[in-house]
Amino acid sequence: MTDLKLEAAKAALQYIKPGQTIGLGAGSTIAHLVNLIATETKLAGTLTFTSSSFKTTGLLVQKGLNVKAPALLKYIDIYFDGCDQFDPELNALKSGGGIHTTEKILASMAAEFILLGDAAKFAPQLDTTYPMVIEVLPAALQIVLHQLTTNFPGATLKQRISTQKDGAVISDNGNMLIDVYFDKLLPLNELNISIGMIPGIVEHSLFYKVAAKAIIAGEDGISVITP
Ligand code: 5RP
Repeated sequence: MTDLKLEAAKAALQYIKPGQTIGLGAGSTIAHLVNLIATETKLAGTLTFTSSSFKTTGLLVQKGLNVKAPALLKYIDIYFDGCDQFDPELNALKSGGGIHTTEKILASMAAEFILLGDAAKFAPQLDTTYPMVIEVLPAALQIVLHQLTTNFPGATLKQRISTQKDGAVISDNGNMLIDVYFDKLLPLNELNISIGMIPGIVEHSLFYKVAAKAIIAGEDGISVITP
């Protein structure tokens, strides 16, 4: 069976030009892209990379590629990332990894944010299959949970708890993570604003009108869509 994530990564490689600064997110599709870039030794040596993910950063370093911390950069040529689900407007729900805050920062630094996905991730409209992940300042945990319960009575809220330590999962930024399973989604523009306005929420994982392009790999080949 064709590895569609690998096919999406192969198509993404074609967009990278010598000398560019490339931002990378997380996940298996992005790992394929790093592996492919590393085999293109002539091109790879001209590129600068940054990533929202410790795991991806580790892979880039392991491959001997030139990596810079996001804090040292203010511009990225292309930011590539996967997602859980995206729609024809390229709105996306992301972040099983709980790293969406840095992912959004890198996407905002990029001239172009290109989503990579297999066809199974493409939905006519975003639905409630995946949670919206919310990064919350520790001091605001209880009030944010209260606000979410009040504003979205049908939603199920799950704070991420470490199974090993039996304590809270702490994000890369030292904050708490809450998975919000909505019973129904508000119009995305309303959801984007209403969640973002709750004090103490650092960022949520709905990428509303952020991506400029999506590379989708299906059994019938690659398609590239723009909103
Ligand atoms: C991480 C993400 C990933 O991009 C998303 O989970 C996709 O992963 P994969 O390429 O393994 O399907 O949003 O925060």
